[in-house]
Amino acid sequence: MTGSFFEGSIRKLFFEHRSFPAGRVKLKEENVKLIKKVEELMGQGSLDDVCKLLHEHKSHYDWVGVYLVHPDDKLVLGPYHGEKTIHTEIPFGEGVCGLGAVEQKTIIVDDVCKADEYLSCSPKVKSEIVVPITKNGEFIGEIDIDSHRLNAFDKEDKDFLEKVSEIIGKVI
Ligand code: SME
Repeated sequence: MTGSFFEGSIRKLFFEHRSFPAGRVKLKEENVKLIKKVEELMGQGSLDDVCKLLHEHKSHYDWVGVYLVHPDDKLVLGPYHGEKTIHTEIPFGEGVCGLGAVEQKTIIVDDVCKADEYLSCSPKVKSEIVVPITKNGEFIGEIDIDSHRLNAFDKEDKDFLEKVSEIIGKVI
């Protein structure tokens, strides 16, 4: 395959990030409760309220948003809670979100300063997690969360957010 998009994406896959083997741990009680709340909110069709819930209940989730896939191979910002961002559209293959779109798996960046291709929204952000959302097996968007703490996200966050993403994907 030739073309700048593909070549560019491969180059960008090399920045420092973490991924985990498949399989989930049993979620903590606090997260089980939040999952129930997410199911209720998505039952009412409120993705915005899901972002709000996560933003309010997790002290290390300083920015919580959802990007949705646009047919032109880019992500477009949907509902979010946290500071305003200039990154309302992100081409596939750019930034942490664009990497998530190419790999279609959860990406954790422990220290955004070490990720050359990271697209900064605020100098306060230190780490980031991006979780893909699929609907009937098709990649339709991502949950994106920024933290003001270094190394803020662990496997519990990954498993919790992948469950949240599963619920969103079923309802959206
Ligand atoms: N940091 C992201 C851009 C989106 S903001 O975090 C809201 C990235 O590198 O793709």
